Amino acid sequence: MGRAKVFVSRLIPQPALELLQRHVAMGLNVEDKPLSKAELISRIGDAEGLVCLLTDEIDDELMGALPSLRVISNVAVGFNNIEVAAATRRKIAVTNTPGVLDDTTADFTWTLLMATARRVVEGDRFVRAGKYQGWGIMLLLGYDVHDKTLGICGMGRIGKAVARRAQGFGMRTFYTDPQRLGENLEKELRVEFTDKETLLRESDFVSLHLPLLSDTTHYISTREFSLMKKTAHLINASRGPVVDEEALVQALRTKQIAGAALDVFEHEPKIHPGLFELENVVLAPHIASGSFETRTRMATMAVENVISALEGKIPPNIVNPEIYA
Ligand code: GLV
Repeated sequence: MGRAKVFVSRLIPQPALELLQRHVAMGLNVEDKPLSKAELISRIGDAEGLVCLLTDEIDDELMGALPSLRVISNVAVGFNNIEVAAATRRKIAVTNTPGVLDDTTADFTWTLLMATARRVVEGDRFVRAGKYQGWGIMLLLGYDVHDKTLGICGMGRIGKAVARRAQGFGMRTFYTDPQRLGENLEKELRVEFTDKETLLRESDFVSLHLPLLSDTTHYISTREFSLMKKTAHLINASRGPVVDEEALVQALRTKQIAGAALDVFEHEPKIHPGLFELENVVLAPHIASGSFETRTRMATMAVENVISALEGKIPPNIVNPEIYA
């Protein structure tokens, strides 16, 4: 029997490619841009394994066209780009990369939070435009972060890492989640459990750390903005569709909230044109997990998952373990 075949849908860090090549026959899209569905189908061909990225939409039709496929390994913790139910029905393993990006994503969440609170990106634009005429007591005033109230929606691994960092700023931290943490963990993280409405009313900074599911789509929309403080800021480093982008543009335009910072967008890579016209929003190109170290760890983990599945083991980060039952 020959070596198993694995296709990598898009360029990933070199150490992960080298690891993969030591174990399988590797096919690779050497370009750092996504393939179309038809290209994916033809390039994957009879490969048993696929390493893919969140820019690849892996749906039932694609799986149906690839009868050899046994494992889909996503280089991301979120896996909303994969139709998991269809994979499960076809007994295809789906894996993701949890845990390795929590601190990096939390660091970036704070980067966004600070950037919007203190208007640093706006300030950079201002300086570059040659508008800086010297210090001014009223120049580009922002909002304090220390001692304020943070609201975390979604207290999973990333939410917890964000909460830990809030302690350094002496913040009061609320969280909401379908599942309440244990008392000890709440104490350790210095967080208070509350409902969504109270969190929105009380928080100066609302940060989203939810997975994208049907019931988290437009988790923040017109009604939610109406509950938030006029001085509040929204931070989204989760998934774009968690926020109703049209409603966000309205809320920012009418100053219903003070500002926002986004790493993700509802229709990536498209961005609502209204966002470009606003000064009170920071726009980042989905880079929250994008450190050299973490992207290498994520890719390596995805490769380990695919190798493990093709060796007949249950891969360490299986999303649909029921296929092994
Ligand atoms: C990045 O967005 C990820 O889900 O890992």
